Order: sequence, then C-alpha cells, then structure tokens
Amino acid sequence: MRLRRIPEAKAAVTASELCLKEPLEMKGRWREEANGKPVYLEVGMGRGAFIIGNALAEPDKLFLGLEIREEMLYLAERKLQREMAVRGLFEYPDNVRFLWTNAKLLPELFEAGEIDRIYLNFSDPWPKAKHDKRRLTFRTFLEQYMILLRDGGELFFRTDNEKFFDWSLESFAESPFINLSVDRNAPIPENGVISEYEARYRGMGNPIFTAVYKKGEKE
Ligand SMILES: C[S@@+](CC[C@H](N)C(=O)[O-])C[C@H]1O[C@@H](n2cnc3c(N)ncnc32)[C@H](O)[C@@H]1O
Repeated sequence: MRLRRIPEAKAAVTASELCLKEPLEMKGRWREEANGKPVYLEVGMGRGAFIIGNALAEPDKLFLGLEIREEMLYLAERKLQREMAVRGLFEYPDNVRFLWTNAKLLPELFEAGEIDRIYLNFSDPWPKAKHDKRRLTFRTFLEQYMILLRDGGELFFRTDNEKFFDWSLESFAESPFINLSVDRNAPIPENGVISEYEARYRGMGNPIFTAVYKKGEKE
C-alpha cells in the first residue's frame, strides 16, 4: 500500500490509548481482556475499515487489528474517531484494539488457542518468487495461525489477486487446515462490512476471491 510519510504518526500512535505498544505483555491475557467475547484478529489491517466497521456492527466480539506501519494505525484511529462522531460516541468502543507490531511476532503475542478467528484481507501478494516467505499465507505463517487458533477456530482469506489466491490455496492444502469453502466471485459479507481494498477492487468491477478454513482434525 503506497502512502506518504506522516511525520506526526509515530508520536500520535505512541501516545494513543487505542494502539497497544507493548502487545507482547498481553500474551495469555486476551481471554480475560475479551471478557467472554470471541477474539477476532485481522492481520495487516491497513487503514482499519474492516476492523472498525465490524467492531461497531458487532459489539459482542473483540476485534483486534494488527498492523506494522504507524501511518496506517494513525489513519485508522482517525477513521474510528470520525465514525464515533457520526454516531455521537464519546469513548472508544470497548471491543476494538490496534496492535502496532509485525505479524512475525504472532507466537509472542498470543498463547496457543487464544484466537477464535483470523482474517487475512487483501494481504500483500509479494509477486516475486524470492519473496514468497513474506506472504501471510506462506507455510510458516499458516503453522503459527494453526497454533494460535482454538480448536474449531476459523480463518477467512480474501483477495482480488487470482495468482496469489491460487498459490495460497496450495499452501493451505499442504497444511492441516480444513477447507470449508472457496468462492471465486464472493458476495459482500452479510453484515455489509468490507475492507478498504475490497471496496476499491469491487468498485473497479474485479471479482473477489475468498476461502474459509477451520482448525480441526482432517478425516
Ligand atoms: C494491501 S494492505 C490491505 C489492508 C486491509 N487489510 C484491506 O484489505 O484494506 C496490507 C497491509 O498489511 C500490512 N502488513 C504487511 N505485512 C505485515 C506484517 N508482517 N505485519 C503486520 N502488518 C503487515 C501492510 O502494512 C498493509 O497495511
């Protein structure tokens, strides 16, 4: 995602109560933090349209948006503030948190089984073969998701990039994940919430590719 540098972003994100700077301290405490709500995580949330829209639409779930770039977190927080102003809310919803960190650190952020659902929305496809290890659907990432999801937990993968999609399906097929569905022209989800990239590519008339997986015993 191309984005101009925002000089004030780092200080703003550092000062923000919404963006967890020491998310490693939360490892093993997410269930308590969620207070009985299921824990849903988007890896690489960008400017946060998906996680914010879902948090406002579904208050009975805890939505975590993980993102490496401070500019994105900065813009996501501003987006949430605009949405709150529209709704007349004066405090951040208690069911959304941003995690300012690298997905490589997932095993240090969550205990095994601590997540109910993972979303990979329009992850960077890293088209060059030599960069395949950076793809968030590379084998090593799938191994981590498998550990962090609870038994029966789900992973939702969406992209507009057919080549990346097909490569990812193969990667999932070689993993213990159970495939629940594949759709090469997916509709908008029932609650109507889509990510910024999905809105952009739908607007261009591109088909959206989705696959859903579950953690469980393969037959
Ligand atoms: C193409 S954007 C998609 C954003 C959003 N999910 C959407 O669908 O609109 C991918 C995002 O993932 C973030 N990202 C890529 N690799 C990451 C990593 N290893 N850890 C955390 N965030 C990452 C990028 O900074 C970028 O904001």
